[in-house]
Amino acid sequence: MNAPWIVGNWKLHGDRPKLLQFSQVFADRKQSIALSVPATLLGTEYAIALGAQDVSAHKHGAYTGEISAEMYLETGAKFSLIGHSERRQYHGETDASVNAKVLRCLSVNLLPVICVGETESEFDAGRSAEVVRAQLLAALDGVASDAEFVVAYEPVWAIGTGKSATAEIAQAVHAGIRATLASICDEFASKKILYGGSVKPENAKELLAQPDINGALVGGASLEIDSFAGIVAAAEEN
Ligand code: 13P
Repeated sequence: MNAPWIVGNWKLHGDRPKLLQFSQVFADRKQSIALSVPATLLGTEYAIALGAQDVSAHKHGAYTGEISAEMYLETGAKFSLIGHSERRQYHGETDASVNAKVLRCLSVNLLPVICVGETESEFDAGRSAEVVRAQLLAALDGVASDAEFVVAYEPVWAIGTGKSATAEIAQAVHAGIRATLASICDEFASKKILYGGSVKPENAKELLAQPDINGALVGGASLEIDSFAGIVAAAEEN
């Protein structure tokens, strides 16, 4: 597990000049950081690891607008986010489609970064652990014990709100995720579990110091070199 993995999720932002700038600044950190970028920015080799933000549940066929795991792999993408809460919220992503996409990624060795997280009302009702466990079990249905994947815990109420989960709350959920993974098979217990939701240079160090937080999935703060570099520096201090 070792060094934390810091992944920026650019969502519907960014362009090639910006990506080139990031790749120059972070060129020596290919192992420890990555960017999940719009599909149009993939396909050119940069000195930074790149991934997709979603992938089709299908291999090929009459699915206008979709991009398959194979196609992403061909662009040089190393991973794909799967089941981001914005996909679940605005694009009808379900636990079943998340599972299908995870299996598609694994079939071609595109690393799935499986996103889970409870809504604000589920958090208020004290249901975080239960919701996240159910999402994770569904996402991993039929996944082989030797599969490579990463989990990202992103409480929906913390995304883009400036209101990060405290390190204590995040650690408790991450420990629950690790216990769920371990209950599936021993091999899964050591998977990287990233935290996402209003990660900033100011809170990154404390979050990343938690025993079960192995990296960060960063939205807004990954769009500027300075704030992303601040998070990367905080990760390196731990
Ligand atoms: P913010 O860091 O902007 O809260 O976004 C988190 C996120 O959704 C990353 O996938």
